[in-house]
Amino acid sequence: MKVTVVGAGAVGASCAEYIAIKNFASEVCLIDIKEGFAEGKAMDLMQTASLNGFDTKIIGATNDYAKTAGSDVAVITSGIPRKPGMTREELIGINAGIVKSVSSSILEHSPQAIIIVVSNPMDTMTYLVHKTTGLPKNRIIGMGGALDSARFKYRLAEALDCPASDVEGMVIGGHSDTGMVPLIEKATRNSISVSEFLATDKMDKIVHDTKVGGATLTGLLGTSAWYAPGAAVSEIVKAIALDSKKMIPCSALLSGEYELNDLCIGVPCILGKNGIERIIEVSLSDAEKSQMQESAVGVQKTNSLLD
Ligand code: 2OP
Repeated sequence: MKVTVVGAGAVGASCAEYIAIKNFASEVCLIDIKEGFAEGKAMDLMQTASLNGFDTKIIGATNDYAKTAGSDVAVITSGIPRKPGMTREELIGINAGIVKSVSSSILEHSPQAIIIVVSNPMDTMTYLVHKTTGLPKNRIIGMGGALDSARFKYRLAEALDCPASDVEGMVIGGHSDTGMVPLIEKATRNSISVSEFLATDKMDKIVHDTKVGGATLTGLLGTSAWYAPGAAVSEIVKAIALDSKKMIPCSALLSGEYELNDLCIGVPCILGKNGIERIIEVSLSDAEKSQMQESAVGVQKTNSLLD
């Protein structure tokens, strides 16, 4: 499998690194507009191959999409990241133009590629790729839910004082501070509802801390996070590469699922060689349902800012 990662900034480089380290792809092409930058990151990463034990070849390119030709998957991380105090929605103006031109350049050289969208505001950028490329909906995947669910599990494990591998949980809804819907009522530790271990105020705090997970890191780092976003992308690409049919919450174009239409928002997806092979409709409690509907209103509001 060949994977292109557009944008060699912190998030793009982290995607390339985790994809390479997991050793399921034959080639990763990292591409950036800044002269020599992607080539430098690719070379630095390739020099870790013997240390980290991977066989994936990583190449870099400066805006030369011919080098991305024949990619099975392309990850779009390009655009500006948010700074402390900014919402993801504020990035729409600049990032929409970038995402539109990047997706068309990718498809020119890799017409069969499955596209994974990371750039923010992620649900709206995923929708924009649908609107501008007309690709079948299984081939466009927004990565937010994979990341938000990982942050949810981190917070659950922290509160339960247990390893993250003991917990299960999903975040659906929009990838925004107000739009995320962490499914705390369904979260478990070794199949046991977390409500058996945690008081309501603790669970409320987990939900809150999960929703502002990205903003918390932006405040600490001065820019957007990269390790968990990169790792989340690598898990999505791995599910496609291995045709594993893994269920990962991703932003998908909905046509009636969850009573929603014509928007991209986080829902549990079965991922395989064809991208999003199925959307799972989980039965939601009344509270979860109304949160999902509110989240959709927020995403639609941001979508309406696209020309
Ligand atoms: C985040 O939440 C990059 O939006 C991403 O960190």
